[in-house]
Amino acid sequence: MTFQPTFTLVCHIDDIPARGARRIYTSAFEVALFRTSDNRIFALKNECPHKHAALSEGIVHGHSVACPLHNWVIDLKTGTAQGANEGCTPALETKTDEKGNIYLAIPKEEGAAA
Ligand code: FES
Repeated sequence: MTFQPTFTLVCHIDDIPARGARRIYTSAFEVALFRTSDNRIFALKNECPHKHAALSEGIVHGHSVACPLHNWVIDLKTGTAQGANEGCTPALETKTDEKGNIYLAIPKEEGAAA
């Protein structure tokens, strides 16, 4: 089964604090959009792979976020837990245009009704 992502405008980079996050609500699940100190944007399902805490409440450092509940460190690019911890939360693709508009890839099953 193949999935064709659809990019949807969700916000502007200035809507996300540096080293912070913003919640985006999709029909599938809640997404956390993260902005790193080097102004990269990453998107993860807003749910820690450990006990489901909101990763948007975590502390962003480098290209990772530390979960607010038990401090697991999650890679922002892959959603994978780092170190000795095991687990993964879905990572979504993003695009940022020259004006700073951020687009989020919301997966859509090929052939599904729009
Ligand atoms: S819920 Fe995130 S580390 Fe436990």
